[in-house]
Amino acid sequence: MSKSLIQFIIEEQRAIPGATGDFTGLVSDIVIACKQISHDVNKGALIGVLGSAGSENVQGETQKKLDIITNEIFIKATEWAGHLAAMASEEMEDIYPIPARYPKGKYLVVFDPLDGSSNIDVNISVGTIFSILRAPQGVENPVAADFLQPGTTQVCAGYALYGPATMLVITSGHGVNGFTLDNDIGEFILTHPDMRISEDTREFAINSSNEQFWEKPVQRYVEECVAGKNGPRGTAFNMRWVASMVAEVHRILIRGGVFMYPKDTKDPSKAGKLRLLYEANPMSFIVEQAGGMSSTGYERIMDIKPSGLHQRVPVILGSKNEVERIVRYHKEI
Ligand code: AHG
Ligand code: MN
Ligand code: MN
Repeated sequence: MSKSLIQFIIEEQRAIPGATGDFTGLVSDIVIACKQISHDVNKGALIGVLGSAGSENVQGETQKKLDIITNEIFIKATEWAGHLAAMASEEMEDIYPIPARYPKGKYLVVFDPLDGSSNIDVNISVGTIFSILRAPQGVENPVAADFLQPGTTQVCAGYALYGPATMLVITSGHGVNGFTLDNDIGEFILTHPDMRISEDTREFAINSSNEQFWEKPVQRYVEECVAGKNGPRGTAFNMRWVASMVAEVHRILIRGGVFMYPKDTKDPSKAGKLRLLYEANPMSFIVEQAGGMSSTGYERIMDIKPSGLHQRVPVILGSKNEVERIVRYHKEI
């Protein structure tokens, strides 16, 4: 019998002295949310969930119907069981305290309910990203400031990828494991144990339409890659851009690569596009746990002390030797 995600988490928990089962309970609620989201994403137009909701989120981005539906699914699946003190999401301006009718717990969860949502109407892979933090000791009613913890304090991070198969990839600080949803039995089954990112790669992912706005080190790196065999790298590179970070990170876990959404000058009020709490930190935790590296170009992402819930950061992550090279370019110029 193959191992389910919940069996895997319970066995991991047994190794932790004094563990109460709270963490396992929380993860299993998140897993249920991801199964429900997978179902809705999969049905698509059949259940009328595609298209725009006609509203904007706190970041001024147009919300898709599914951005709102998946946010609601995630809340409903996780708020009731007494494992959480509060949550925060890309789609909500303020934190979401656990309603008074439910017991409160010691964890916080932050999430991006639907990552890559611009892809939903064109039937390209999307995902859900989550990160579990501890509420500060003795805090029963957390405020936004309690969520502003550096990525190094994450207890667990994961993503669900709704692609040709639905997968869930998770770390709680002891490596990275990947599970595939078997729709016939409704369980995630361990199919990708101990995922590792190759140290070297010849593949990069970046939205090149922003090239004029990038900083010199990133321009230099990409120029050198596209120069191919006759350029300074002396080898041909391949390029991908899915516009779903979950899909890009998953590809990198499977076959290596570098993903960049770097600092640019397109909108000087934003340091980057991706959000530190909901996207950059959880993905950095996963990438580092798989032997990769994650940086803004100037500093390790997980070391950043967040200044706001919806803070954005530049992201450069993936195969270690290439990310190291890009960081070096940032020092040289
Ligand atoms: P979201 O759909 O949650 O807003 O995130 C989309 C993100 C990320 O997944 C992706 O890598 C990037 O935005 C795509 O940006 P461009 O449309 O600028 O390429
Ligand atoms: Mn996203
Ligand atoms: Mn999103």
